Amino acid sequence: MDDRSDRQVLIASNRGPVSFTPSDGGAPALRRGGGGLVSGLAGVAGRAEVLWVCAALSDTDRQAAREAPGGRLDLAGHDTGGAVRMLDIPAATFRRAYNGVANSTLWFVHHLLYDTPNAPHFDARSRRDWQSYEAYNAAFADALARDAAPGARVAIQDYHLSLAPLMLRERRPDLRIAHFSHTPWAPPEYYRLLPDDLGVRVLEGILGADHAGFLADRWAEAFLDCCEAVLDAKIDRHARTVTHAGRTTRIGVHALGVDGAALRARAAEPDVAARAAALRAQVDGRRLIVRIDRTELSKNLVRGLAAYRELLANHREWHGRVVHLAFAYPSRYDLPEYRAYTEEVRRAAASIIEEFGTDTWQPLILQVEDDYPRSLAAYGLADVLLVNPIRDGMNLVAKEGPVLSERDCALVLSREAGAAAELAEDALTVNPYDVSQTAEALHRALLMPAGERAERCRRLVEAATALPPDRWFADQLAALD
Ligand code: G6P
Repeated sequence: MDDRSDRQVLIASNRGPVSFTPSDGGAPALRRGGGGLVSGLAGVAGRAEVLWVCAALSDTDRQAAREAPGGRLDLAGHDTGGAVRMLDIPAATFRRAYNGVANSTLWFVHHLLYDTPNAPHFDARSRRDWQSYEAYNAAFADALARDAAPGARVAIQDYHLSLAPLMLRERRPDLRIAHFSHTPWAPPEYYRLLPDDLGVRVLEGILGADHAGFLADRWAEAFLDCCEAVLDAKIDRHARTVTHAGRTTRIGVHALGVDGAALRARAAEPDVAARAAALRAQVDGRRLIVRIDRTELSKNLVRGLAAYRELLANHREWHGRVVHLAFAYPSRYDLPEYRAYTEEVRRAAASIIEEFGTDTWQPLILQVEDDYPRSLAAYGLADVLLVNPIRDGMNLVAKEGPVLSERDCALVLSREAGAAAELAEDALTVNPYDVSQTAEALHRALLMPAGERAERCRRLVEAATALPPDRWFADQLAALD
């Protein structure tokens, strides 16, 4: 496929489909990227017309980016396939943009993670981080402007790149530009924690796109509210458009789902079967409650563990008969909040084992490591899947679990996950702050009759696979035509 034609599609995101890890002696080893964005887009990466532009995330990535012929990595032969341009952004600029602005400020604002004692403090250092965030966005805009064929479509992803749409439009007005947010969007009263000029820049940056997409109605509505309250932009709620500074941007909602067939095929591979056998031996015929997350503050692991503790405290009949498998893969450890949170999770887990464990029963297994095949194996064995984020753009775990469960898992789901908009009727929904309610939902889930579980799980799978990634992405592109 000629990538200089107007069929060309560019994807831009911070994390790309792969990253590199040092390996002893030989060439750096390729690793699949984690998180919802990459899981969603990995399936379209291999298409001939697609070029994926992402940031080098580490020194090993930076080295690989520098050594790639013409700066392009060819992933043919790898899981994802496709062509990738990894941007060699200076390490200090990347660190300030990624840690200082994207993952602390913007992530915290959209997930409502600040409270009064840890409210943000915007000072000279934040301004310097912000300048790096601008330079980082400009590096993407420059690369996209260079690589894009006339009239190409560009799909810019997530909060790391909220300034890039406008920057790219200024460089290349001929391109058709989409932005997609994989996070929730903050309501205006919370969004206004941002210094006024920065709050304006982020909204105007995204409005540089022709189309701005969100995962759920409520996030799109919140974005419209912010455009109205902060920019005094003209909002058409019926047509879902924002008009500001002489341009109109369409707002769309695309609820990313999972590709059931591809997921089942991956789960049928031998590495998953081997891990399933090991887990089965550990669980030894007991009922199994599974959760799988990044070690992420918004995922609410500590309250989830507290709910499991309360289940065991209130319902002694489960002692010796249930195991909770909590898999948390390490994430964003450059931020002290994430390191402290992981320690808190470990302490909460240890105290449950200490309180209830016996010589013959370990009530909880917490594993803080990245093992994708083991996560797939755990889905297969789950009787109950616990997904209780404080707030989440979508949450693909809630969709992947039912698809892979061999035991018609019951889903305990936070009402604050974007996925609740589609799954709430067949899940047991909870207020993520209400530990007691979550504990009772776990109890009900464990007691749910097989027929009801099967019926609910069938409908969960139907909803989860309704908009698989290739169709989700095609919808984003179609919105540009
Ligand atoms: C969320 C974000 C993604 C991000 C992922 C993993 O799903 O929306 O943009 O890639 O978390 O986080 P990380 O910081 O490791 O890329």
